Amino acid sequence: MPHTLDPDLRRALAERVRYCHEMGIYDFYRREPRVSESVTVADVDALVVSSTSQELREEMPAKKSTVVAKVAEENIFEVLTPKPEHGVADPIAALKLIREDLGECTRCKLHKQGRKQIVFGVGNPRAELMFVGEGPGADEDAQGEPFVGRAGQLLNNMIKAMGIRREDVYIANVVKCRPPGNRTPERDETETCSPFLMRQIAVIKPKVVVALGAVAAKNLLAMNASMSELRGRFYDFMPTGARSSDPSWQGTKLAVTYHPAFLLRDPRQKGEAWKDLQMVMKYLGLEPAKKVDD
Ligand code: URA
Repeated sequence: MPHTLDPDLRRALAERVRYCHEMGIYDFYRREPRVSESVTVADVDALVVSSTSQELREEMPAKKSTVVAKVAEENIFEVLTPKPEHGVADPIAALKLIREDLGECTRCKLHKQGRKQIVFGVGNPRAELMFVGEGPGADEDAQGEPFVGRAGQLLNNMIKAMGIRREDVYIANVVKCRPPGNRTPERDETETCSPFLMRQIAVIKPKVVVALGAVAAKNLLAMNASMSELRGRFYDFMPTGARSSDPSWQGTKLAVTYHPAFLLRDPRQKGEAWKDLQMVMKYLGLEPAKKVDD
């Protein structure tokens, strides 16, 4: 479809979108377009529901343009400034581009609250199974890898019990910098960081994402509920920014289970966590690891 945007509008949009991308924001929400023959800059503005709207209105005089009502059908944001990994088929290369885009991130306050390094993620870039935790702790911050401390050892055992190896899965967190004192990441921090996690998921395209604990579950599902409400079932899942019309996300599931750190504090819940993992194993056709008697 030819692009019929008014050049001034296109330029202003491109500038605004580039600015958002520098902030790590790639996902925009559009209202349903109104049915009209031609729309004004103000109409297009109204399609973009983000913090950019007001500023864009100020930059652009409200004049009539020849923008067709179809404008909402083209993904103008992808067209103007696609994500760096867009169109990169090799997930290793695509993840590298996301990591480069993240850079020495200073987008949220965690960068100045004692983090030693960014903990991006680790594992198989083509994994069928992905685990998502909350955020790095002291060990992860020191080593630059998620789940390498005590909770990580328990996660490794959980993965092993599923009949697979840590190297087979991909592991990441909602936030990539250690919150001071291992506090729960705050909303502005998760909102700033989770677009990068969503892009990692979009590249890896796992069949199942397992959210470890309530913070990961609530962020990935964008819903607020207790662990008892969240666990015990599959959710259809698609990372934010993926197209709902993209058939390759059909069948992708998200499951919620207890965070390994919680299981260390309350080992009686391990049986419940095992039930969650068995549900995942069944879906992926995995057989539990055989116990070796010694
Ligand atoms: N807890 C998490 O949520 N993530 C880690 O990487 C380590 C501990």
